[in-house]
Amino acid sequence: MPLLPVALHRAVLCAAALFSTLPLQARPAVEDSIAQRVQACTGCHGKEGRAASDGYHPRIAGKPAGYLYQQLLGFRDGRRHYTLMTGLLEPLSDAYLQEIAAHFAALELPYPPPQPATVSAAVLARGEALVRRGNPARDLQACAQCHGKALMGVAPAVPGLLGLPRDYLTAQLGAWQSGARHARAPDCMAQVAQRLGADDASAVAQWLAAQPVPTGAKPQAAATAGVVTRPKPTLDCGSEPASASPSMRLDAGMGVAQKAGGDKGTGHRVVPATDRAAQVERGAYLARAGHCAGCHTARGGAPYAGGRGIDTPFGTVYASNLTPDALTGLGLWTPADFRRALHEGRSRDGRLLSPAFPYPNYSRVTPQDADALFAFLQSLPAVAQPQPPHALRFPFGSQAALAAWRALYFRPAVHRDDPARSADWNRGAYLVQGLGHCGACHGGRNALGASDGGLGGGIIPVQNWYAPALNDPRAAGVVGWPEAEVVALLKNGVTGGALPRASTLGPMAEVVRGSTQHLSDTDLRAMAVYLQGLPQGLAHKAAPVAPAAPASPIQPIKPGAALYERHCAACHGDRGEGVPGAYPPLAGNRAVVMQPAMNLVRVLLEGGFAPATAGHPRPYGMPPFATLLSNEEAAAVLTHVRSSWGNAAPAVSALDMHRWRGSR
Ligand code: HEC
Ligand code: HEC
Ligand code: HEC
Ligand code: HEC
Ligand code: HEC
Repeated sequence: MPLLPVALHRAVLCAAALFSTLPLQARPAVEDSIAQRVQACTGCHGKEGRAASDGYHPRIAGKPAGYLYQQLLGFRDGRRHYTLMTGLLEPLSDAYLQEIAAHFAALELPYPPPQPATVSAAVLARGEALVRRGNPARDLQACAQCHGKALMGVAPAVPGLLGLPRDYLTAQLGAWQSGARHARAPDCMAQVAQRLGADDASAVAQWLAAQPVPTGAKPQAAATAGVVTRPKPTLDCGSEPASASPSMRLDAGMGVAQKAGGDKGTGHRVVPATDRAAQVERGAYLARAGHCAGCHTARGGAPYAGGRGIDTPFGTVYASNLTPDALTGLGLWTPADFRRALHEGRSRDGRLLSPAFPYPNYSRVTPQDADALFAFLQSLPAVAQPQPPHALRFPFGSQAALAAWRALYFRPAVHRDDPARSADWNRGAYLVQGLGHCGACHGGRNALGASDGGLGGGIIPVQNWYAPALNDPRAAGVVGWPEAEVVALLKNGVTGGALPRASTLGPMAEVVRGSTQHLSDTDLRAMAVYLQGLPQGLAHKAAPVAPAAPASPIQPIKPGAALYERHCAACHGDRGEGVPGAYPPLAGNRAVVMQPAMNLVRVLLEGGFAPATAGHPRPYGMPPFATLLSNEEAAAVLTHVRSSWGNAAPAVSALDMHRWRGSR
């Protein structure tokens, strides 16, 4: 018994000694606040979220919290469209979005001056009349009826109309007219915008943007809203409190999946579940491990109902409906049909399936696990949603081409435990090579898209992300890491404190959020054991990271250094040292010096948050620089980061920036 405290005590002493030898932080610790976390937003939405009226970006400060929350869900789930915002919000949880909305709603900040109108007084007068009185001839209600007499909105879900840029107002009305913007049903604004028409929309926007915002104006409380003479309540639209609106995300009800994993150790060798409910629970867990929903759920769509397009170099392949609908899903399938799909890549009718469905990996799934997966899928509510036709270039979509491809590259693999290895290693191998399909991204692919079956690093085509080698500690390898840190990365999306901070981004953030965070610690430890036991690859071609020549103190400031000072140092530190727990260091960070540099390009242009997970629920954000830096400037600042503070990686060129900007 006394051994443990002694060992602990020693560990604490060691840690203390280690920290006392670190150089002092150049900046004071960053405040642990929501304002600090959402700096990724205020770059576009203006300091603290109060955008000026001259641009396009809407003010978000002081808007009703329920409204803001619905908009954030809308961007994340595809009812509103702005790629940079969607990318930022994608890895965040409902709970975190609610907190962010509440933060901006609570800000009381002065409004910018009004925008002088650019149309005649007659047009302005028409705009004002429409806002205040509507147009009974077209059955158009007054805007003030819903948006409040003072036009400052009505809590909790109707936004104000004053203090917004004119271009933004016009664009939003246009988006509702064209169907590009949707609110949750009943979407009153779609009707309003239709009845308004383009000319009147412009008149209304002109008048609204030209109005000063009274000091201290706020959304009005729901009870006193608008004109109350109308027979039927008009405020139903979008006005439910935020908590009454479960989003269509998969977070809900997934406690089941997590529980089902239990700590069952090398679960695939456990006797098949006889109890149906237990089998379904187990299947739910395995579906998480296989990240089936990641491909089989369209943005904002019903879970597992398919319809999501997967971009490949040969065109777009659409995932199918896995719910038990008889006509469009797996309703008529038998367990044997399902096993054949997983193991042989054939549909129920014998059709050869595209390898965008990672059956080369799933062929390792044991028959018992396949049956559990099937039982789980059959327990879902049936959703009628046909699989859209693939959009593949000739001849790639044809059965003949698939048959030829399979003859060359597809050999069904069967998982067999290696008796010379530990149970953990075998379980880890099963999860990594099979359900986890880590090699589908982390392996190389040939010109015809066939995976090389390894984990030596690969470019994810079309998406322009590089999934680094899992068998090289300079890339994504974890050999030498404390096991607990590997578990932390896969469970929380970021490492803990024992290492320079590593975090997951882009497609890997999706993997953590949708899959690995839900796995049991036993399974994650098994994956760690397997990953740490990988033979270390020699193929990795990263440039060695040698310390840079000491900089001479009188060196003129290069453009990259000046840009870094201006745009990055506030978070990442003057010397790239980062802020523990908040901002990753850029000095000595393997992700920064990695070759190719395409992930850096994506992170710089698109920004991002680490995934919001149970263990790391409120990540800090990196702002996107796509609209702020030219290709030349972005290349200069990345080159600076890659060649300073001991980093010594090749430069990034403006051409690299152009090539890797990505399809987003
Ligand atoms: C790259 C610039 C950019 C960044 C960064 C950004 N936004 Fe936006 N945001 C926009 C634009 C542009 C719109 C309007 C999009 C449209 O046309 O509908 C918008 C719209 C919104 C809206 C809807 C406003 C309304 O009145 O309906 C909210 C809410 C919002 N953003 C919140 C956020 C939050 C929170 C973050 C940080 C996580 C963020 N934004 C980051 C550019 C940005
Ligand atoms: C029947 C109620 C109703 C009426 C009438 C109405 N609105 Fe709305 N409006 C809403 C609701 C609800 C929303 C929030 C929609 C959402 O959640 O996306 C909204 C949102 C908006 C937005 C988006 C604001 C932003 O920050 O993005 C604009 C612009 C707008 N309305 C303009 C108008 C104008 C102009 C009129 C009059 C011609 C009008 N509305 C009349 C209910 C109404
Ligand atoms: C990387 C994306 C991806 C992942 C992950 C994925 N699938 Fe699929 N799956 C697809 C695509 C794309 C298709 C359609 C292939 C085609 O039609 O040629 C498909 C087809 C299928 C089919 C055949 C359906 C039919 O109607 O023929 C089954 C069954 C299936 N997937 C099950 C699963 C299961 C179970 C998982 C998780 C263990 C999973 N998929 C994970 C992309 C994926
Ligand atoms: C959809 C593609 C994809 C899949 C599937 C995938 N990864 Fe990744 N992974 C990436 C990308 C891209 C990166 C680089 C970005 C980053 O560092 O997060 C990455 C990075 C990593 C890292 C390094 C993180 C760091 O910050 O050093 C590890 C470890 C990792 N992946 C493990 C796994 C394991 C284990 C699996 C299987 C369970 C897996 N990945 C499946 C795309 C993928
Ligand atoms: C508002 C604070 C903030 C600013 C300003 C900022 N970053 Fe970041 N940056 C972050 C955060 C937070 C992350 C981690 C994101 C994550 O974990 O997904 C990050 C991540 C990164 C990464 C990826 C590191 C890794 O380990 O994968 C790079 C590279 C980076 N930033 C470069 C820059 C550059 C270059 C600039 C200036 C042009 C900059 N950042 C400005 C907050 C910031």
